[in-house]
Amino acid sequence: MSVTAPGTASPPSGDPVAWHDAENGGFGADLDLWLRLASERPGGFVDLGAGTGRVALPLADAGHPVIAVDTDPVLLGALAERSAGRAVETVLCDVRALDLGRTCPLIAAPMQLLHILGGPEGRIRAMAAVAAHLSPGGRFSAVVLEEPLPQGVGTPEPVPDVREVDGWVHSSLPTEVRIDDDGITMTRLRQLVAPDGRLTEAGHEVRLDRFTLAELDAEADAAGLWVVGAERLPSTLEYEDSVVVHMEVRRV
Ligand SMILES: C[S@@+](CC[C@H](N)C(=O)[O-])C[C@H]1O[C@@H](n2cnc3c(N)ncnc32)[C@H](O)[C@@H]1O
Repeated sequence: MSVTAPGTASPPSGDPVAWHDAENGGFGADLDLWLRLASERPGGFVDLGAGTGRVALPLADAGHPVIAVDTDPVLLGALAERSAGRAVETVLCDVRALDLGRTCPLIAAPMQLLHILGGPEGRIRAMAAVAAHLSPGGRFSAVVLEEPLPQGVGTPEPVPDVREVDGWVHSSLPTEVRIDDDGITMTRLRQLVAPDGRLTEAGHEVRLDRFTLAELDAEADAAGLWVVGAERLPSTLEYEDSVVVHMEVRRV
C-alpha cells in the first residue's frame, strides 16, 4: 500500500538506515546482558544481524572487539561509517552461510534473528554454522520469543518511532500484530514527511516465525549445539516475552 498526499511527486521510500534506526534503535533493554556476556567471554563478540550497530557500537565502546554480520549492505555500510576508529569489523554475509575463517568465544543473535531465518531448516543451518565458529568453551546466545505468547502480545504500541535525517522525518507507527499458528505478522504505518511538509505513507510488514523452546532445543541438537540455559530479558512494553537462550557446542 502506498498513499501520497495529492499534488506530490511519486513517493520516495525514505532512508532505509533511518527506518531501521527508528524501528530498532529505541530498544536498549538487552544491552547490559550483552555487556555482561561479553565480559564473561572476552576476546571477540560476533553480532549476527547487526543492522546499523545498536548492539555492536556500545559493545565496541566497552572495549570488546566486534564482528558485525548482516546481509544488508546499506545497513552494514552505515555501521562501518559509525564505527570508524573502533574495533568493529563488518562482514556482509548470511548467517546461514557464516564463514568468518576463525572461531570466537561469544556469538549473539539479538532481537529475534532466529525468527526470520526461514523456519526450522534455516535455523538449523544458521546454528550449525555458528557451532563451527565457536571457540572451545564458547557460547551462542540468541533472543527468542517465549511460547505460549502471553496475553497482550497482539496489542501494538500506540506511539510512533521517529527519526529525522536532513529534515526528512521518518515516523513508524505499529498498527497491527496478527498471530497465526506459524507466525506473527507485525504491521507498521511508515509516514515520511519531507522538509517542505509533503507526507508520504506506506505500510510495512515484518513476519516472525513461531517456535517453542522445545523445538529450538531439538533444532540446536541437530546443529551440534546444546542448550545450557536461558534467562528472561528485562521487561519492556514491547519485548516482555523475550528470553535469551544460551547454547554451547555439544560434547560427545
Ligand atoms: C530487526 S533487525 C535487528 C538489528 C540489530 N541486531 C538490533 O538488534 O538492533 C534484523 C537484522 O538482521 C539482518 N538479517 C536478516 N536476515 C539475516 C540473515 N539471514 N543473515 C544476516 N543478517 C540477517 C537484517 O538485515 C537486519 O539488519
